[in-house]
Amino acid sequence: MIILKHPDEVEKLYRANQVVAHLLEMLQEKIEPGVTTEELDRIAEEYILKQKARPAFKGYRGYPATLCTSVNDRVVHGIPSRDPLKEGDLISVDVGVVLDGYYGDAAKTFPVRRVSKEAERLIRVTEESLYKGIAKASVGNRLFDISHEIQRHVESHSFSVVRAFVGHGIGRSLHEEPQVPNFGQPNRGPRLKEGMVLAIEPMVNMGDWEVKVLSDTWTTVTADGSLSAHFEHSIAILEHETRILSRAA
Ligand code: MF3
Ligand code: CO
Repeated sequence: MIILKHPDEVEKLYRANQVVAHLLEMLQEKIEPGVTTEELDRIAEEYILKQKARPAFKGYRGYPATLCTSVNDRVVHGIPSRDPLKEGDLISVDVGVVLDGYYGDAAKTFPVRRVSKEAERLIRVTEESLYKGIAKASVGNRLFDISHEIQRHVESHSFSVVRAFVGHGIGRSLHEEPQVPNFGQPNRGPRLKEGMVLAIEPMVNMGDWEVKVLSDTWTTVTADGSLSAHFEHSIAILEHETRILSRAA
């Protein structure tokens, strides 16, 4: 069942997502060669607690940290570590919080200083695919219109979308129905309605779409070792507009 949200709930989801949005802006400033992902995690947790929110991922099915920090061929769910970032790395930062009972969730891939032209293109196309998907998230369209648009854009640039993980509804739980795949057929899936709140999160590989999970049971890497990028926004479908809740205002 897809839970539709009332305007006052959308407002609460907006507030939670603004904590996430401003945190990602702050972390962007800290991302440079030499910093460890554990340091980023500590900064993030302190920030979230200061906003009277709580990290949403920590403890979720036993996940051990506040952030997911996925470097280079890591796709998602990279556990923060003592390894320092170096120039030329890509780092995807995914963060979720709970504020006043409502969840916020967003992710972004950052270049560490100067990266290769191909890596820059991967980041750009992945972010574009998210916005193109969001542009289809309006009342009357169908869910897989979003999915199809993301896939179409990514594949038109000869990259591939990850199949094993999908976006999701979000509300008083981190993961609600529906699942939001980043691939699919247009004009299929549930009809989009006012009050739906979705976390849309394309994960895009430079090479093949296959991934594997490492023995820590979390860290997900590309099967072929190619680079991967990840962008996520939580959005609310309203009568006359689609509101990007996790864009910093
Ligand atoms: N943005 C991801 C998701 O919504 C992050 C989940 S990490 C976990 O599924 F640790 F919470 F699992
Ligand atoms: Co998510």
